[in-house]
Amino acid sequence: MKITFWGHACVEIDEAGKVLLFDPFITGNPAAPKRAASVKPDFILLSHAHPDHLGDTVAMATASGAQVLTTNEIGIMLAGQGVNAMGMHIGGRVPFAFGELKLVLAFHGSGIAGGQACGFILTLGARKVYFAGDTSLYSDMKLVHDLWGPIDIAFLPIGSFYTMDADDAAVAVAWVRPKVVVPIHYNTFPALKTDVDAFKQRVESSTSSKVVVLSPGDSADL
Ligand code: NI
Ligand code: MN
Repeated sequence: MKITFWGHACVEIDEAGKVLLFDPFITGNPAAPKRAASVKPDFILLSHAHPDHLGDTVAMATASGAQVLTTNEIGIMLAGQGVNAMGMHIGGRVPFAFGELKLVLAFHGSGIAGGQACGFILTLGARKVYFAGDTSLYSDMKLVHDLWGPIDIAFLPIGSFYTMDADDAAVAVAWVRPKVVVPIHYNTFPALKTDVDAFKQRVESSTSSKVVVLSPGDSADL
């Protein structure tokens, strides 16, 4: 599975000929390399509609024909803009061409009135990926491992201010117990400044999870 980090919370997964793109904040994202704009997703997974996640969703979905997978109210809002969107909701588990997607809780605003933010658990072939979205630490995150795991790769925010900080994210790793953690949502803006090397050292010395730090534009085969 090829993972590309485009900065902030924008993550691309290439798996079995499908391109999945999470939270495509590219235009206006100071961390995103220009070539991020040329990604042609098959699916856009949108955790919520804050501008640093909604980002280029409408333009990219319109250009590529990608289906946007998100929570219901955000899906309705996007469909109203002509986007092919499917609005599910927390707890739902839905089969797609790439595998299976489950929407899970994220403690965060949605970015639109009456909406809800979410995280995602994807089953891709034999592997499971947890994309936490923007969220605080919350105790039911233990369910990600206990009921829906084991998780191979977890994308967790560590930047504080809007989400968990690195201390809380280290606790999340201990609960989720992924084989690999990729930290996201840090250092994009001054308010999110975080020592990612300290996070890596702390997690790897206190858990059996490996932390893979990707600079914006970097890819890894995981
Ligand atoms: Ni947000
Ligand atoms: Mn955010």
